[in-house]
Amino acid sequence: MCGIVGIASNKSVSANIVNSLKKLEYRGYDSAGLATLSNNLINEKKCSGRVEQLEKILFKAPAEGNLGIGHVRWATHGIPNEINAHPHSSEIVSVVHNGIIENSNNLKNQLEKKGLKFKSQTDTEVITLLLTEELKNKSPLDAVHETLKKLEGSFALGIIFKNFKDMIIGARRGSPLAVGYSTNENYLGSDSYALKSMTNKISYLDDGDICVLTKDNVEFYDFRKKKINKKVLLLSDDKNIAHKGDYKNFMSKEIFEQPIAIKNCINEYIDKSRDEINFYNFPIKPDSIDKIILVGCGTAYHSCLVAKYWFEEFTSLTVEADVASEFRYRNLKFNKNSLYLFVSQSGETADTAAALDLCKKNGVKTCSIVNVVESSIARNSDWVLPIHAGPEIGVASTKAFTGQMLLLYMLSLKIGNLRGDIERKYYQTKIINLKKLPDLLQNSLKTEDKIQLVAKDFLKSKGSMFLGRGFSFPIALEGALKLKELSYLHAEGYPAGEMKHGPLALIEDGLPVIVISPNDKYFQKTISNMQEVIARGGKILLITDSNDSVISENIRFKINLPHIEKSLSPFLTTIPLQLLAYHVALLKKCDIDKPRNLAKSVTVE
Ligand code: G6P
Repeated sequence: MCGIVGIASNKSVSANIVNSLKKLEYRGYDSAGLATLSNNLINEKKCSGRVEQLEKILFKAPAEGNLGIGHVRWATHGIPNEINAHPHSSEIVSVVHNGIIENSNNLKNQLEKKGLKFKSQTDTEVITLLLTEELKNKSPLDAVHETLKKLEGSFALGIIFKNFKDMIIGARRGSPLAVGYSTNENYLGSDSYALKSMTNKISYLDDGDICVLTKDNVEFYDFRKKKINKKVLLLSDDKNIAHKGDYKNFMSKEIFEQPIAIKNCINEYIDKSRDEINFYNFPIKPDSIDKIILVGCGTAYHSCLVAKYWFEEFTSLTVEADVASEFRYRNLKFNKNSLYLFVSQSGETADTAAALDLCKKNGVKTCSIVNVVESSIARNSDWVLPIHAGPEIGVASTKAFTGQMLLLYMLSLKIGNLRGDIERKYYQTKIINLKKLPDLLQNSLKTEDKIQLVAKDFLKSKGSMFLGRGFSFPIALEGALKLKELSYLHAEGYPAGEMKHGPLALIEDGLPVIVISPNDKYFQKTISNMQEVIARGGKILLITDSNDSVISENIRFKINLPHIEKSLSPFLTTIPLQLLAYHVALLKKCDIDKPRNLAKSVTVE
């Protein structure tokens, strides 16, 4: 992953580089750095930790210069310390890199044999030293072109050269990179979000492309060094970007934004007067679809798992859900009549993007469900369905998850309707019920007070288990993932019915066990599984919309949710689990928006 920014300007650039790096921290935040050119010298500043730290360093020792590159890192090669932070500079060239150079060990051996010395443990430094060698007898563009030929793996690069005080070169293969345009100033960035505060005019590099930026001009070349033109895109004006408002952090804001985000998405896709879901331009006629394949990572994968149940309920189709990192390496049999759906908040996740590419290479139709419409995954898909959740900044996904589920719910209903698998009346009743969802989500958020009490139990526990059946099984997985991500506590999600096949051995006196059991067809079965846990000392937090009084015995806490039609229960049961993870992390004083070791957008394998 990692974030890159570069600015060529007629005025000092370091303050704007730092501002853009702050926006890019969602891509990595274990170290930060920048390099500017001034007085014919490369001026490098870097540190471990956040961009805030870099800002402090720059306050004491400013980095002058009208040209510069900056970087936020998510460590792959070498621990996150100052030496391994980017940029990696020699006397004549400075490089920032996102991605992984897979043949870096071989290249390093070759360079060391020539007597070159490495300062860091990173794969990136081989690029710096290769360029330093090539620059002895080549122009910057030729040196970059030659260097790229030697690299295997994925990269987005930003490069400046001591002897060219108005030139940044960017290059991409596998990792996204964008160029932004303004007057007397041009930019390089990992994504449009980094550049949005400076310009709304951008172009994206494609794989193999190189760009050469000066303050007044941008040129693009393809992998053969042939000059090419790029489309200039106008970015939408996102006024509500990245403000916490009165909230303590982005995550709490994003949890509480869910009713409105869901309402916006419903308004976007549902024609309320006709109770109709508007999806057009299906890449495959719904009648001809023979199978649905859902692919995602992390939380997005969990939305795929929930959707499997919906597609199975509303259509006669076979459905598969897979994590992208497995999907991309499986020996798959592609079928032109199958609909391949890729789910990703950022639209930049490397494994999901690679899984999509694999489908494209095999000639099948692809659809992406994304939050960031300008993303690589969206641009590469045959059909894009945005979730309209607004920017999600907290690393742990919340409103994007419910948005992804909503899109998948509507899609499964619509496909079921168009194929004639469900009756029109049934379909419209589902839509009428769906319109009630924003209010019901609002009510579910009222569980926060009780969840705050529950959270205290987790402080003393070694771990926890999340159990559910049916739709509630993937929600259990998501609840466990949220707790792991945010509070660093061990948590395991399990199908309640599988407990007896092993995990029951983990239950001991006082272990918190979260049972997700809406009043659906699994209710009694899940409650029986819960009793088995109680009998072994598990401390139960039951999340349900059932008023059944029998079940309140021997339960430590019960969270009552509003009644909702059964197939919509995953939306409501998700809320207390997000709040639980949030409050446990708050009590543990964890960094809520930027949990340790993680990043929002994972652009490496
Ligand atoms: C990272 C994030 C997760 C997210 C996953 C997939 O691991 O920390 O919160 O679920 O990536 O991200 P995507 O942008 O593809 O939904």
